[in-house]
Amino acid sequence: MTKVINTINEDILSGNICFIPTMGAIHEGHLSLVDIGKETNLKTLVSIFLNRRQFNNDEDFKNYPIEIEQDIELLESKDVDFIFLPQESYVYPGEGVPSIAPSKVGSILEGASRPGHFEGVLTVVNRLFDLVKPSHAVFGKKDAQQLFLIKDMINRFDLNIEIIEGDIFRDKNGLAMSSRNNLLSQNAKLNAANIFKSLKNVVKEINLGKSFEESIEIGINLINQNEIDLDYLEIVDEENFNYPNKYSKKLKLLTAAYVENVRLIDNIDIEI
Ligand code: PAJ
Repeated sequence: MTKVINTINEDILSGNICFIPTMGAIHEGHLSLVDIGKETNLKTLVSIFLNRRQFNNDEDFKNYPIEIEQDIELLESKDVDFIFLPQESYVYPGEGVPSIAPSKVGSILEGASRPGHFEGVLTVVNRLFDLVKPSHAVFGKKDAQQLFLIKDMINRFDLNIEIIEGDIFRDKNGLAMSSRNNLLSQNAKLNAANIFKSLKNVVKEINLGKSFEESIEIGINLINQNEIDLDYLEIVDEENFNYPNKYSKKLKLLTAAYVENVRLIDNIDIEI
């Protein structure tokens, strides 16, 4: 039986918790994280909290989809133990919640385009960790830079929480599932699938022996051929998010782009 709760009390903390934080408008990507959480056999707790502090743009915050009734139904169908729907005043009571600045990786890519975003993310995730006190937490690889910075925060503060990483869940055309996809018209959704196609093409060119620069150039051209407004398309070393060097073992190609003014992000691993 799923319990919907607005506050955390001792009952909930009586066993180990596997925590899956979300901002709602639950989709199959979120549900795939719930499935991973359930495999731990711990109590699962999904939070839905639209965290104003991580939006650097007010319009973006106001337009963010809210589907609370449907979210509850979807999470009940997965039989999660707790759905945590806190009020803003419960998450941020007065001045007492410390603001968490990200390390320098927080100022590139998403951080460069969305100043303050990762500070907002780390602040709420740290606060939610403090409330929920999970032993495990599940995050998606779709938000690769966010995942990197959350793991970095766990190391910096020596938090005793095991992070479980969920693969990117995509629709049948390859578009990464996102709450923001709800804001796209049907045509735009089809077009947005070209983002992933372009990522795959860049990887293909690299595997064929082209340089990173040439391959990225091809990717940029592919994205520009469609009605997609590219923000960035960059390769980083997954270990540190720096530009790769000869010691790099795992690479990631990351992108952010706008379709119908909706900001979408995606990434893909590059095997070398
Ligand atoms: P939100 O965008 O709702 O995402 C919640 C979790 O779902 C994140 O860990 C995200 O990486 C994961 N996720 C989103 N789309 C996914 C997909 N297609 N496949 C797999 N996982 C996916 O990320 C946030 O909320 C917030 O920043 C949050 C961490 C909750 C802090 O407010």
